[in-house]
Amino acid sequence: MKSNKSIQKWLSVLLLFTSLVSFSQKKIWDETKAEKKERMAWWTDARFGMFIHWGLYAQPARHEWVKSKERMSNEDYQKYFDVFNPDLFDPTDWAKQAKAAGMKYVVITAKHHEGFNLFDSKYTDYKATNTPYGKDILEEWVSAFRAEGLKIGFYYSLFDWHHPDFTIDIKHPLRYPQHSNGPERIAANKNPKIDQYYKEVNKGRDLKKYQNYLHNQVREILTNYGKIDIIWLDFSYPHLPFGKGREEWDSERLIKMVRELQPHILVNNRADLDEYWGGWDFITPEQHIPESWPEENGEKAYWETCATFSGSWGYYRDEISWKTNRHLLSMLIETTSKGGNLLLNVGPTARGTFDYRAENALEKIGDWMRVNSRSIYGCTQAPKSWKAPKGTMLTFNAKTNRLYIHIMDYKTNGIRLSNAFGKVKYAQFLHDASEVNFVKYWKPEHADDIILRTPALKPNVEIPVIELILE
Ligand code: GLC
Repeated sequence: MKSNKSIQKWLSVLLLFTSLVSFSQKKIWDETKAEKKERMAWWTDARFGMFIHWGLYAQPARHEWVKSKERMSNEDYQKYFDVFNPDLFDPTDWAKQAKAAGMKYVVITAKHHEGFNLFDSKYTDYKATNTPYGKDILEEWVSAFRAEGLKIGFYYSLFDWHHPDFTIDIKHPLRYPQHSNGPERIAANKNPKIDQYYKEVNKGRDLKKYQNYLHNQVREILTNYGKIDIIWLDFSYPHLPFGKGREEWDSERLIKMVRELQPHILVNNRADLDEYWGGWDFITPEQHIPESWPEENGEKAYWETCATFSGSWGYYRDEISWKTNRHLLSMLIETTSKGGNLLLNVGPTARGTFDYRAENALEKIGDWMRVNSRSIYGCTQAPKSWKAPKGTMLTFNAKTNRLYIHIMDYKTNGIRLSNAFGKVKYAQFLHDASEVNFVKYWKPEHADDIILRTPALKPNVEIPVIELILE
């Protein structure tokens, strides 16, 4: 067994090492942790936002990756550009629906991987203003959403399947015919024909020119639309054959520019700058909620799960795996209970409307949020001393000192909360402020516990919440 002294020695070496690592962390800009916390505060309070994936892919209506999945050339895809005319587009209606669902911020795809721009860019003709619709969608969108008091964000795809200088790679619609994203790519890579193919097909393409285009467009969207609260850059794949990352995007320079243009802006983590301080603000688990509050560099990270109502981000007419209201609410509660945010996606139709299934889902979330949002806004993971009773999830508001018990599996005969005796001033259901009586647990071995007397009948809310006002 090691002596105490040698353990101490090891610990101090470890401490020195970790402080050296954090000291030597590369920096994109100067900001203290406290300043970052303050900059992020509106977002951590908000907890809930909307993602909007909208582009030409709404017309094929079979996934936003359709161009790549079906290996369409620019010519094949042109028909969608030629007829794009969302005549029913009413951004105020969208904004009202987001707001009524309880969402506080909204991120829209200014450009997705297909390369089509919702905005009027100086640097391309491939934009909404040149379609039959003829207007700058981003401009209309921004003013409507701002008017409803929502924070606004732009998603911008780092890669581009339309730009003539973007080099063809494994994700591109024109990739090597047998080159897939699946596990078989490893085997396929060993095929020398593949190298040859990419060499040939990329002749005349100048990635540096694309890099300039990307930087110019990010500058445009962060200059021409006033204050932007979030930028969501998507994504890097340097580890894949012929993949792209920080070098190809020149991410360091890109993020520095973003910070200069909009110093308050929040940046997601997909520009391949993981180890840079300031290279990103929050991490972005996709379509899943982490088991526990995720950590980066040994510290709890700011994080946001992005997820779809059903299996695709863009409008997908025939997709049927729509999540239930209960499932969606439980995702929101779970992310909050682990200190994270939820960005829930709508893929509008090519007429410019929300799909009826998305509208229904938003409405039901709104019904719950209208009376229960106090357990979400400004809330986070409960302090360790509180243990969630079986079948429940906890959230906590440090400012108001209130604890929230979300009853996922309703039980009539009471809920036992450990180590709570003497710590609770008052308990009530959140949706109707009706008192929930509680008593000290009678078993001597659990004398510190209380039993909350839940009524026989489950209240008429999808997931009832008990609010505890703490001593
Ligand atoms: C992925 C997909 C994309 C979607 C995004 C949302 O990166 O490529 O279609 O926009 O995830 O997180």
